[in-house]
Amino acid sequence: MSQKMLIRALAGEILPRPPIWFMRQAGRYLPEYRAVRARGGSFLDLCYSPELAAEVTLQPIERFGFDASILFADILVIPDALGQGVRFEESLGPLLSPAIQKRSDVDLLQPERAMARLAPIYETVRLLRRRLPREVCLIGFAGAPWTVASYMVAGMGSRDQAAARVWAYGDPEGFAQLIDILVQVTAQYLIEQVKAGAEVLQLFDTWSGSLPELEFRRWCIAPTREIVRRVKLACPDVPIIGFPKGVGPLYRDFAIETGVSGISVDSGLPLEFAHHYLQPEVTVQGNLDPLLLVAGGKAMLQEAERILLMMGNRRFIFNLGHGIVPETPPEHVAQLVEFVKSWRA
Ligand code: CP3
Repeated sequence: MSQKMLIRALAGEILPRPPIWFMRQAGRYLPEYRAVRARGGSFLDLCYSPELAAEVTLQPIERFGFDASILFADILVIPDALGQGVRFEESLGPLLSPAIQKRSDVDLLQPERAMARLAPIYETVRLLRRRLPREVCLIGFAGAPWTVASYMVAGMGSRDQAAARVWAYGDPEGFAQLIDILVQVTAQYLIEQVKAGAEVLQLFDTWSGSLPELEFRRWCIAPTREIVRRVKLACPDVPIIGFPKGVGPLYRDFAIETGVSGISVDSGLPLEFAHHYLQPEVTVQGNLDPLLLVAGGKAMLQEAERILLMMGNRRFIFNLGHGIVPETPPEHVAQLVEFVKSWRA
């Protein structure tokens, strides 16, 4: 139970070697994932099919022996559950319509319907808790409000999240209505995941790096703090990992101010900074460049060792700086997991 390595690391324990799992550890780089995916249906159908979603969640656990398993779903199930249509196009990525760009658009959302529509995902969590090996920790997740809003406002993925930033500058109170709905629904969604069996939660704020300092405080730190507060009220013991990608020195403010137990850092953050300014506050997770996992070989192992030497003697979780990419050879993943699992502080 609380003997699982990930939970011990998040409680601040220094372990003989850090636990390891990877963001996007289930996905297109695995032939067995592509096989399930090809059985028909859309990507969202897969997210809402408990049996299949549980199956692809377990694939990387069976193949590589990760210490933690992340629920297979997507951050965009929240806009979908709110009634904004979401679909994934092969070469275009996610498309959301209608775009939510002003106050009257926010009124179209249906927060009261969202929890029921997300029920299949809680069922996936329940299946996983029964099927996972007892030493493997189950991570639930959601997108953080800023990142999810950036897709809802643009109606698609965007390079610089310009549409959301312009709305937030021009009408902060109107944009705050959207963020407030996302805070409320995301907190409820995470609480339901914990009730169904999730043991750790991660909040993905992939696009926080596009915001200047004051905007980052208002649209990333504050909503995250409120979600953490609400989740802790209902589930006091569940550790939460934040991932405000690309925010450099503001990682420290996020670590201190939000109440998270762990912070996932991107590959651009200097290890010195993480060691001196983050590890005294929270457990750090990261941060091997996912493209080193594509390259493999000596370059990959050298960087993994540098990370372990710098971070492994304090509270730490070995992960990537962002998700695994589809071009990744599975043999490289196997080699890296083996390397980290046999390393000793
Ligand atoms: O980490 C895991 O293994 C759990 C599952 C997971 C997925 N997406 C599965 C997925 C998680 C945690 C996510 C998070 C997610 N989704 C984020 C935040 C983290 C990050 O990677 O930045 C974001 C921004 C999304 C939105 C999203 N989902 C995009 C932009 C895309 C299209 C791009 C792409 O890779 O195709 C997705 C699709 C997606 N989500 C896939 C998977 C396995 C690929 C879909 C497919 O199989 O066709």
